[in-house]
Amino acid sequence: MDNPLCLTSTDSTNVDAFKLALEGVKHGFGVLAATQHAGKGRLGKSWISPADTGLYCSIILRPALPFTEFPKITLTAGLALCTAVETLLPHVPFGLKWPNDLYSNGRKCGGILVESSSPTSLGESTFVVVGIGMNVNTPLSVFPPELQEKATSLRILSGNDFDIRQLYCRIHKILLEQVDTHVSTGFGQILKEWRKRDVLLGKEMQWVTGDKKVITARGMGPDANGQLLARDSSGKVYEILSGDVQLAVEK
Ligand code: BTN
Repeated sequence: MDNPLCLTSTDSTNVDAFKLALEGVKHGFGVLAATQHAGKGRLGKSWISPADTGLYCSIILRPALPFTEFPKITLTAGLALCTAVETLLPHVPFGLKWPNDLYSNGRKCGGILVESSSPTSLGESTFVVVGIGMNVNTPLSVFPPELQEKATSLRILSGNDFDIRQLYCRIHKILLEQVDTHVSTGFGQILKEWRKRDVLLGKEMQWVTGDKKVITARGMGPDANGQLLARDSSGKVYEILSGDVQLAVEK
């Protein structure tokens, strides 16, 4: 593994990695920061990045996959993150909340923001930036009150502190292995493993549609395209493309 670019602070490692990828930096290269001033979360949210306590990194991928496969990499990356912490803390139960939040005991421990280049007619090489944020040695006191009720960290779950650089290396290795599996054998094996960790499977959940309707339905897990399926009480099956789904009891 190449050493990552290690920054003491930055606005967002995803922005840094995206710029490097546009300049042609290779598959597997990572950017790791001790803190971020403008960390980006999914759906335009921000990612609070207290200094020296969490993992904030972005890894450039140039998988030999058609662009249409890129959305599935989100799930592949989530599985890699979950596998990495499971092997580190085998007694702690971890799970994945679609599309790629890392959960333990009903609380969020990490999240992933995947951003990809647009395909061009010039045939330029396309890439994906996998941005990973994880609460590692993080006390809940650093979060605003609304997050203190929903968040957790590896330290809270295990009572131990972790070396963030070593954790990065572990996640990086597993991510590249899982992406290789995705490229060489297809998405099926990744999906099978992902589904074993699905915290929404069979659970009543809610989300808001584009036309502002609140839908309540039970999670059926992601399909072969990585889109989440859910069935409501009338038997109607929904395909959720993006957005924020919540367990109904979380309201
Ligand atoms: C989410 O759960 O909403 C995704 C959070 C992703 C946060 C990480 S921190 C490192 C990388 N840089 C960013 O600006 N965001 C991602």
